[in-house]
Amino acid sequence: MASSAVIWWGVRLSLLAGCIAVVALRLQHGLDGAGTKNGGSSSRQRQATFCYQGVLTNVDPGPGDDDGSAAVNCFALSGDAKFARVFSDSDSDSVRPGYALPGLWDGHGHLLQFGEFLHSADLFGSVSFDDIRSRLSRYLDANPAAGSADEWARGIGWDQMALGAMPTAAADERLRGRFFMLDRVDVHCTWVSQAILDLLPAHLPDVPGGEIVRTPGMGVFCDNAMDLVVALWPKPGVARKKTFVASAMKALHAVGLVGMHDAGVFPDDIAMYDAMSRTDDWTLRVYAMVECKERNTLCPDDAAKVSRDDGFLTVRSVKLFAGKYGALGSWGSAMIEPYSDRPDVTGSLLVNASTLTALTKAWSAAGFQVNIHAIGDLANRYAVDAMEAALVALCAPAAGADVDDLADCQAHHHRFRIEHAQIIHPDDQLRMHALGIIPSVQPTHATSDMAYAERRLGAERTATEAYRMRSLLPLHPVLGSDFPVEPPNPFEGLYAAVTRKNPHTGVGPPGAEDGWHREEALSVGQALAGFTKGAARGAFLEGKAGVIREGAFADWIVLDEPLESMSPEQLRYVKVRETWVAGKLVYARRNDDADHNDL
Ligand SMILES: *[C@@H]1O[C@H](CO)[C@@H](O)[C@H](O)[C@H]1NC(C)=O
Ligand SMILES: [Zn+2]
Repeated sequence: MASSAVIWWGVRLSLLAGCIAVVALRLQHGLDGAGTKNGGSSSRQRQATFCYQGVLTNVDPGPGDDDGSAAVNCFALSGDAKFARVFSDSDSDSVRPGYALPGLWDGHGHLLQFGEFLHSADLFGSVSFDDIRSRLSRYLDANPAAGSADEWARGIGWDQMALGAMPTAAADERLRGRFFMLDRVDVHCTWVSQAILDLLPAHLPDVPGGEIVRTPGMGVFCDNAMDLVVALWPKPGVARKKTFVASAMKALHAVGLVGMHDAGVFPDDIAMYDAMSRTDDWTLRVYAMVECKERNTLCPDDAAKVSRDDGFLTVRSVKLFAGKYGALGSWGSAMIEPYSDRPDVTGSLLVNASTLTALTKAWSAAGFQVNIHAIGDLANRYAVDAMEAALVALCAPAAGADVDDLADCQAHHHRFRIEHAQIIHPDDQLRMHALGIIPSVQPTHATSDMAYAERRLGAERTATEAYRMRSLLPLHPVLGSDFPVEPPNPFEGLYAAVTRKNPHTGVGPPGAEDGWHREEALSVGQALAGFTKGAARGAFLEGKAGVIREGAFADWIVLDEPLESMSPEQLRYVKVRETWVAGKLVYARRNDDADHNDL
């Protein structure tokens, strides 16, 4: 189990390219709004008091406080599922086992894609066609509805290098007639069964920018040729997407997450979220960034802003894209200077600078926070350019405002973010600091890329530009995982941020004794802030999320040991004991899981 999970996640996927393109989901109308959260009987008063062995409030020390950790171990909830009082009580009768801390947030993930991923066949690490056939058989046993013309079975993770040959549509008796669409480990190719191949014309001409694999037989379609089969794929409908959401929320609670920033949700899916978030099935706080059906366009009227008082869904931000999806691995992200190991390649942008600036201005004028995806240093530069221009236009239309005015306006009104902010030229880092542009960083991206990043970038760019964390601290970085690209477990992110080592292997880059560029490592407290207060501020939820204090959402998790006394090595083995959202228990570890870890 453990090793297959490690393989499953150990591969860095540029899954989003696939997921978002492939899961270009549309829904019909007819959402049911049945059941209302905090309405009727579910609004019964919850004024319970909870005492633990310790409570980490995560509240900054106020002026005059000795330190922020005034020992408290109890809190009481108010009737509207907020913390009402935080206090100390040593009466041992009422003390529950474990140590409480604020519920964690993932500052950049993809809820629906993660749910779909949980419902796909796991082909990661498959070593033979027999292995794949038996995994697919097991998948069909567990998912009897899958594999029909209406609901194709999906899977991900095969690799022809490991299989020893390119797959073909031919399959054995058990799978004959079934509809399979199975993505390669990098999501750049998909392998379909004969039933799907039969839907296509017998003679398929080559596709520019793509490959139809013809030997040893038909069945695999790569890059642009994938569109041929994706066009025929019956996209998941609302019911199925609701299942994806439910599974995703459950899995996220199990690793201690109470909220997440959904980094790109189509307007129709926002409508579905809005309906779902009024029901008791919706147990995760979601801060959703709108993504127009046509990427990098203006669609503020398609997605109504949402700001629910109960904090379960907030929509007031948009996701734009400067550079291409995909990380350094494919030399795709846009760089100012060519890649060190491909001097002829500088990557590519998805929009030009003037369009990005115009979009940033227009979206922020419509009242949306603008969050721009940028990996390479050229993409990051254009993102900073666009944000600076928008701040000038919106905050200081009259000439003469200085940079402090812009920074003040950014901090109070706009909070523009750069999603990933992976490789940033030193000049642009200075501009981010001057304007207060928020980096939204995934610590496990650094540790997944460290094996080859230095080859792509060269030593100097790596040292001065790449995968910064500590030097970005004054900007209140938001930390996350980019699930399902990386596993959602925030303790892996904490470990990666603190050690700059891979949470699955516990080691740094090949050949290195220590973590990768440890000068950019964070302390546990700083990393925790990124998954709590940083994520809250990046969502305009400061004071409400990521802290245990009066008036904040009653969201907390319970660990067996206090986080602040753990060694860095312990972080990657943490198993959350309980997760509570709005005063409700949404995850409790089963007793038989208690001692199950890989140590
Ligand atoms: C930028 O792209 C837009 C849209 O594709 C195009 O209309 C515009 O001319 C481009 N601007 C520049 C400066 O290339
Ligand atoms: Zn993402």
